[in-house]
Amino acid sequence: MKSDVHDNLALQIGGLIESETDLIAGLSNVVAAIHHEMKNWWTGFYLVKTEENKELLVLGPFQGPVACTRIEKGKGVCGTSWKKEESIVVPNVHEFEGHIACSALSNSEIVIPVFKDKEVVAILDLDSKNFDQYSDQDKTQLEHICQMVSNLF
Ligand code: SME
Repeated sequence: MKSDVHDNLALQIGGLIESETDLIAGLSNVVAAIHHEMKNWWTGFYLVKTEENKELLVLGPFQGPVACTRIEKGKGVCGTSWKKEESIVVPNVHEFEGHIACSALSNSEIVIPVFKDKEVVAILDLDSKNFDQYSDQDKTQLEHICQMVSNLF
């Protein structure tokens, strides 16, 4: 994204997070801000939760079409980003082995982990209908935004 778009988004998100203590309320507004500023096809968080003694990603606040609700560690782009504890830029999702296609219309994707005390607590996932939508600059900018988001957890 252009640096003025990022600066505007970071400013907006700073304000949203500063004035909110509830996780879901905060994440919902962060998603809305990112979704509309960046014009993604899908924007959302998956939250690390424990169900039946097993950690997995569970769908959190999002904007866009209906999505899959649970992703296991190491599965898909999100589960891989969680396992590797690193951001992943996917220029063409059809070439990513094990990609989970929640929407058949998504063609590229970027996934950024949110860390709290060095542990991954959530994943930010952005999808685009365009191929090759997300750059390394987007990765750096979204990592900065995810550092801010970490304060909500
Ligand atoms: N494509 C993701 C799944 C989530 S949806 O894109 C909303 C993945 O492969 O992990």
